[in-house]
Amino acid sequence: TDRRPLVAGNWKMNGLSAAAAELDALAKALADRPAPACDVMIAPPFTLLAPFVAAASGTPIAIGGQDCSHLEPGAHTGDIAAVMLRDIGATSVIVGHSERRQDHHETDDLVRLKAEAAHEAGLVAIVCIGETEPERDRDQTLNVVTTQLAGSVPDAATADNTIIAYEPVWAIGTGRTPTAADVATVHGTIREVLVERFGEDIGNGLRILYGGSVKPANAGELMAVANVDGALVGGASLKAADFDGIIDAY
Ligand code: G3H
Repeated sequence: TDRRPLVAGNWKMNGLSAAAAELDALAKALADRPAPACDVMIAPPFTLLAPFVAAASGTPIAIGGQDCSHLEPGAHTGDIAAVMLRDIGATSVIVGHSERRQDHHETDDLVRLKAEAAHEAGLVAIVCIGETEPERDRDQTLNVVTTQLAGSVPDAATADNTIIAYEPVWAIGTGRTPTAADVATVHGTIREVLVERFGEDIGNGLRILYGGSVKPANAGELMAVANVDGALVGGASLKAADFDGIIDAY
């Protein structure tokens, strides 16, 4: 199966208006060398979506959201509907990031509803899963990701509308990463679960990203692991040079 890799940057709660210059720098870096052999996406905070969409126009960089409501537009103060992201020019949205699951008590059910709302609006849903450190210490990693997949991924998932992101929570922002062998085991299990649930075509077509302390120095090794179809990058996506260094792994 031909899965085009994706290198996605999640800016989290970072970036003031001057940060659009960083996107221009990334666009310039990409323009200065042969087209990357992967898709490239940046998810800025909501406040920077409009300038980032404008700055990314005519470049290979797609713009995504970091979260969306599961609800239709209406009386929901502080929330952003998927259709609003689509309207402003986003083409994808991250749902169920571990920081949302922890800080906002998001459950698998809610994450699945958000992914469905994203699909309804014509957005690709990037569904995040991953175990905490205590879960890993108790050898529960494969159980946890299997349960999260079952609960968070909509039945209507296809290779075109959904991407899975495996992010071990203990690897996020810590500088620690699993070994390549451990990543291979988890991604291999995710692949088996997807094939079993969705069949060969969709199951093998869905992309599975790895996230957690991906940097230019380790991207080559991590991206070479079987069933790793790209990266979801936090800290190292904030600087154009670092992010370009990760894209360069392809
Ligand atoms: O969504 C991105 C991940 O949480 C990874 O963050 O690259 O800063 O470890 P990090």
